[in-house]
Amino acid sequence: MKMPVLKMAALFFTVTFAVFAIVAKADDPYRFLTWNVTYSIIYPLGVPQQGILINGQFPGPEIYCVTNDNLIINVYNSLDEPFLISWNGVQNRRNSYVDGVYGTTCPIPPGQNYTYILQVKDQIGSFYYYPSLAFHKAAGGFGGIRILSRPLIPVPFPEPAGDYTFLIGDWYKSNHTDLKAILDGGHKLPFPDGVLINGRGPNGASLTFEQGKTYRLRISNVGLHNSLNFRIQGHKMKLVEVEGTHTLQSTYSSIDVHAGQSCSVLVTADQPPQDYYIVVNTRFTDPVLTTTGVLHYSNSNSPVSGPIPGGPTIQIDWSLNQARSIRTNLTASGPRPNPQGSYHYGMINTTRTIRLANSAGQVNGKQRYAVNSVSFVPADTPLKLADFFNIGGVYHVNSISSSPTGGGIYLDTSVLQADYRAFVEIVFENNEDIVQSWHLNGYAFFVVGMDGGQWTPASRDQYNLRDAVSRSTTQVYPSSWTAIYFALDNVGMWNLRSEFWARQYLGQQLYLRVYTGSDSLRDEYPIPKNAILCGRAIGRHTRPL
Ligand SMILES: *[C@@H]1O[C@H](CO)[C@@H](O)[C@H](O)[C@H]1NC(C)=O
Ligand SMILES: *[C@@H]1O[C@H](CO)[C@@H](O)[C@H](O)[C@H]1NC(C)=O
Ligand SMILES: *[C@@H]1O[C@H](CO)[C@@H](O)[C@H](O)[C@H]1NC(C)=O
Ligand SMILES: *[C@@H]1O[C@H](CO)[C@@H](O)[C@H](O)[C@H]1NC(C)=O
Ligand SMILES: *[C@@H]1O[C@H](CO)[C@@H](O)[C@H](O)[C@H]1NC(C)=O
Repeated sequence: MKMPVLKMAALFFTVTFAVFAIVAKADDPYRFLTWNVTYSIIYPLGVPQQGILINGQFPGPEIYCVTNDNLIINVYNSLDEPFLISWNGVQNRRNSYVDGVYGTTCPIPPGQNYTYILQVKDQIGSFYYYPSLAFHKAAGGFGGIRILSRPLIPVPFPEPAGDYTFLIGDWYKSNHTDLKAILDGGHKLPFPDGVLINGRGPNGASLTFEQGKTYRLRISNVGLHNSLNFRIQGHKMKLVEVEGTHTLQSTYSSIDVHAGQSCSVLVTADQPPQDYYIVVNTRFTDPVLTTTGVLHYSNSNSPVSGPIPGGPTIQIDWSLNQARSIRTNLTASGPRPNPQGSYHYGMINTTRTIRLANSAGQVNGKQRYAVNSVSFVPADTPLKLADFFNIGGVYHVNSISSSPTGGGIYLDTSVLQADYRAFVEIVFENNEDIVQSWHLNGYAFFVVGMDGGQWTPASRDQYNLRDAVSRSTTQVYPSSWTAIYFALDNVGMWNLRSEFWARQYLGQQLYLRVYTGSDSLRDEYPIPKNAILCGRAIGRHTRPL
């Protein structure tokens, strides 16, 4: 049986279209997709619940594209509520207007459509899209994104015999409206009911290997918060890519994928011809939720058997050690022919340090989550549109401190401003007993260090300034810190959020406003002509009259 994601037949054409030339180089190919977003009853854990489907599929269709392709995605919102899709890991360079989060893009009203015009500029790798509003992500609406290298760019491993996407995640039997009502009522979410592999519960997902061949598996944790461990009975996995970086090809018998993260492994069908368990379990939880899929050999002579192979459960050191072992292959190519390691991030002096601490607590008797004491509340107008139309009072720059305050939690529309071309260090400080996972839109950053305890300037002595991986989502272990470095080379309004979805929903996010005084198109594109206007931007004109 084929994986559900492979059933999709993406409608795409490779033609150039002058009308889009404003935002994209006309010689890069175009791929046209039409998506219809609907509700439908799904049964991933055996009980019927309301799911969000795209073109009738759960998970949604996979986006296949090549570095620098233009993606023209016409999304019809056939739900009875506003909807937006966002792109985990796609950088939308110079174009935060199409980022698909409420701080940058107006929701698509029910019954209407909106055409996203994206370019996967200078990117390769495995990512996913997801619905960003309300608590839609708990109902589906997500799908894989694979950005392939251009034909002449060498990939540091032989062409695999097949390339499969594994969208894994924790799951609730309750629908997204019930879950949202729990959060809106000021409560924490209960423990999830199960774990899904490509929208299927236990032994629902399967794939077929031919004896002796090597396959690429692209694994993304699209769940609502739990870190997950992925493994295949009797098989080793060679890690080759994380979120667009070709890694040193180390071999693992299981791999941790934290909320929001993506990676690729190579697996060779080098075992006796039978069927094997694919296993995914929650990490750092009690109880442990486990689900299985089936790896079938085409010449198999027996079904899955034996105990489901065990993996790490609560061990944090195991995970930290594995994370530290994931490094960049400095001689492998990135999206361009020059080696990935030719950018010496470790030789650049940082111009600013930002320290961000997560916390949880009550505000007005309701559960909230915060960053540096601020629990984010959305404004009445997307922040990016407020900037474009000069609408005052929507938010205040630096409404959040750039280091922990230690004060109590309060509500605000937190925006942290930073200068275009600065080279910053962000230290994520997690003083709680949960595993945190942070994602930054618009960027990939170097994960230079992580460790237990409090971060101090002396912690920099242990940074990896040579071959850290560049990615867009990083975990922070309980009572630990994680440090990242990156160049602010992408002007715009960029969402920085917890991938722990209830925390994101109840305020653990902010916007990083990467600012330049210049209004050159080289630095930032103008608002798209087709931008939907909402809030106080209604009635404005996206082009001068
Ligand atoms: C979307 O799907 C719904 C339900 O099948 C259908 O009624 C509607 O016409 C579709 N819309 C588009 C634009 O295809
Ligand atoms: C969610 O489930 C509840 C029952 O728990 C039901 O009343 C409600 O209509 C459902 N919402 C949607 C959008 O299906
Ligand atoms: C909605 O779809 C129609 C038909 O494809 C298209 O012409 C129109 O541009 C779309 N609207 C937006 C806002 O993208
Ligand atoms: C690194 O990439 C090079 C160039 O593609 C490749 O030959 C080599 O095997 C890779 N090394 C490791 C350790 O992954
Ligand atoms: C970084 O800072 C050090 C100390 O201030 C200075 O000596 C060095 O030249 C700087 N390096 C670069 C690349 O700017």
